[in-house]
Amino acid sequence: MAAIENSRGNWGSKFGFILAAAGSAIGLGNIWRFPYVAGENGGAAFVFIYILFVVLIGLPVMIAELSIGRKTEKNPVGAFKTLFPPSLWKLVGGLGVLTGIGILSFYGVIAGYTFGYFIKIITGGLSNVVTASQSEEIFKSFTADPFMSIGLLFFFVWLTVMVVMGGVSSGIERWSKILMPVLFVLLILLAVRSVTLEGSGAGLSFYLKPDFSKISFTTFARALGQALFSLSLGMGTMITYGSYIAKKDNLVTSAAFVAFFDTLIAILAGLVMFPALFAMGMDPAGGAGLVFVVLPSIFAKIPGGMIFGAGIFLLLSVAALTSTISLLEVPVAYFVDEHKWSRRKAVISMGIITFIIGIPSALSFGANSFLSTIIAENFGFLDMMNAVFGNYSLSIGAFFIAIFAGYKWGVKAVADELEKEGNVFFYKKAWAFLIRFICPLAIFFILSYIAWTGNYF
Ligand code: PFF
Repeated sequence: MAAIENSRGNWGSKFGFILAAAGSAIGLGNIWRFPYVAGENGGAAFVFIYILFVVLIGLPVMIAELSIGRKTEKNPVGAFKTLFPPSLWKLVGGLGVLTGIGILSFYGVIAGYTFGYFIKIITGGLSNVVTASQSEEIFKSFTADPFMSIGLLFFFVWLTVMVVMGGVSSGIERWSKILMPVLFVLLILLAVRSVTLEGSGAGLSFYLKPDFSKISFTTFARALGQALFSLSLGMGTMITYGSYIAKKDNLVTSAAFVAFFDTLIAILAGLVMFPALFAMGMDPAGGAGLVFVVLPSIFAKIPGGMIFGAGIFLLLSVAALTSTISLLEVPVAYFVDEHKWSRRKAVISMGIITFIIGIPSALSFGANSFLSTIIAENFGFLDMMNAVFGNYSLSIGAFFIAIFAGYKWGVKAVADELEKEGNVFFYKKAWAFLIRFICPLAIFFILSYIAWTGNYF
């Protein structure tokens, strides 16, 4: 990602871009968010719809975003402005900039907890965990401490600021090339342990055997939001990242590669969580703390489990960092390109704003009872931000990006961009059909239904 630090440039190689895009996509969305959202929405039936949405909506929108970015070599606002200067389309980019700050504000809280758990494990703070309810108690008291929660949020935002500002992000990419495969292997080992726990069968069937009677319209809305969130779509991250790709690279294969690995990791995370969760008699709809409660109880059942656990939480923090970098990069690129701010000024001010907006989220896991129950008993400020920015804002953004690519800029223009330097646009007709009809219609119906029923959360 060194290119970003200079004014403009390209990724060192196609592989460099894929790594950065995969780094953005793979993060807490896969391992923290996917399992608990799947758990709250009926398990296997949700997973089925999720995969369908990744292929039918996520992949086409990713191709659209990357091509807009590469064509214009701009941030989301600048990209729309370049293609259609006097129009309102730049507002779609503006929404993306706001969404980046909104998501980072709560994502930073969970990322902070992830790192906090790494520290907790290496200092022996989880060594007495045997049962799931003990693990739950520890998570509760950990997050109920306001100084700890705010401090960890501050630390993670600061870390992100340093990386985005300091030009060490190419180093991070290089490290994550080694570390992400390690995370993958650890997850596989954990999944093996999880499915071999006594009583895990019920979890496996909850996760893999769809019961379609459990599907409601809300399931579709959650699956859509989760697919977009996990693939970093709908707010222009892939426009920004696409702006650094060389013309000779094939965007379609890169997009397919990123979507495939992102989905694989999410599915694997579910395979770790659900068998263990059922084996320990826990509730799959336990909410946003799920991963912090379930994982330590699995570690307790593995010889040397805490070393293993430290590794998992550290790697998860790295995966989160490659995503927070991309979240911060969107507003930063906007202020640098459009308002001619220095990179330093943009990064520091966005960091400060994000931290301040993140404070109520940091206090909403028990530290402050009003913020912890702002919408409902088990639905606090962080959950609200997560739904507003992580589901709806991304869905609205993706809707307009699909309309833009399918009708305004047009499928022909996208194809021309993708076919630069002799590249083949695989499944061009299918893409055009999906981006013009399936993506906008599906998103429109889902959002209208939610607005109609008022069932936002
Ligand atoms: N895709 C990231 C994850 O799954 O953790 C989160 C994310 C990053 C969402 C960047 C949106 C985004 F633009």
